[in-house]
Amino acid sequence: MGRVVVVGSFNVDHVWRVAELPRPGETLSGEYRTGPGGKGFNQATAAARAGAATAFVCALGEDAGGQLARALATADGIDLRDLPGRAPTGTAGIYVGGDGRNSIVIGPGANAELSPAFVEGQGDAVAAAGAVLAQLESPVAAVETAFRLARAAGATTLLNPAPADALAPASLLALADIVTPNESEFAAQLRRHAGEAVAAEALGQLDDDALHAHCRRLLPHGTVVVTLGAQGCFVSHAGVCLRGDAHARYRVPAAPVRAVDTTGAGDAFNGALAASLALRPHAAFVEHVRYANRYAGLSTERPGAAAAMPRDAEVRARFGG
Ligand code: RIB
Ligand code: NA
Repeated sequence: MGRVVVVGSFNVDHVWRVAELPRPGETLSGEYRTGPGGKGFNQATAAARAGAATAFVCALGEDAGGQLARALATADGIDLRDLPGRAPTGTAGIYVGGDGRNSIVIGPGANAELSPAFVEGQGDAVAAAGAVLAQLESPVAAVETAFRLARAAGATTLLNPAPADALAPASLLALADIVTPNESEFAAQLRRHAGEAVAAEALGQLDDDALHAHCRRLLPHGTVVVTLGAQGCFVSHAGVCLRGDAHARYRVPAAPVRAVDTTGAGDAFNGALAASLALRPHAAFVEHVRYANRYAGLSTERPGAAAAMPRDAEVRARFGG
C-alpha cells in the first residue's frame, strides 16, 4: 500500500460566503460556517481519501480545535502525529465570493510550534513513506528536517510553497524533488530565487517555452508543477529526470467542473498527487497529474476545505479511470 507523510498545519476555518469579497472600509453580511482546514490537514485528508496510508505530522492546541483534529483524523484513518502546543490551535478567516474564489488570513497559533526535534521523532513514518509532502504554514526548519529524513529514506519530497507570503529558502528548495506553486506563489518564489519580476497575472499568458525557462531557474534539479486554476496546470521536468514522461514540459487541462468553493483546491491537488505517486510508483508522472487535477476539480464542487475532499471511488465514478 502506498504511504504518504504530510507535515503541516491544522486550522479551524471560519468561513463567510459573500456575494462580493469585502473592500477596505466595507461591512458585509454573509452566510457563516466553520470547519476543518489548514493546508497540511487538507492535504493529508486528500491523500487519505485518495487511498494512501497517510500520517500527518502537526502541532495542535489543547483546546476544542485540537480535539476536532483528533476526531477527524480518526474518522479518516489518518495516523496523527501531533505535538501538543502551548498556543491555541491555528485558525483561518476565509471569505468566499459568489464566483467561488476566496481571500484567507491565517492565525498560525500552535502550528508555529512544530519543531525539528518533534519531526525527527517521526522517522519511522517517513522511512515507510513513498512520498513526503509539506507546505509553508509550518516552520521551515521542521519541513527541512522532514525532507532530510525523506531523502535519506529514498522517499519523494513534494513542497507546496504556500502561502505566497512565506519564504522557501534555497536550502529547502534543494531538498525538494517536486515543487507545486500556484501562480502567485510561483511569482513570489521567482522574485526571491531567480531575481525575476513576473506578475502573477502575467504567468497565465506565457507560452510553454517561457514558463519552462522560469521553472528551470527556480528548481534546476527537479520537477515544477504550476497550478493555473481553471486553466489546469503546467509541468516542467529537469532534462535528466522525466519521471516516466515522454516530454520535459506540457500542460494538463483542468477537469470540467462547476466550482462552488475553490478553498483547498490546491491542497486537494497536492494530497492526491502525493497519494498517486506513492500508490502507483511505476506510472508516468502525467498520469499522477491527471488524477490530481480530477481530484482537485471534484473538491471545488463542494463547500469547505478538508470536508470537501472526495474519495477515490467518487473521483473514478465521476471521471472514469
Ligand atoms: O488552502 C486552504 C487553507 O488555507 C484553508 O483551509 C485555511 O486554513 C488555510 O490554511
Ligand atoms: Na471546496
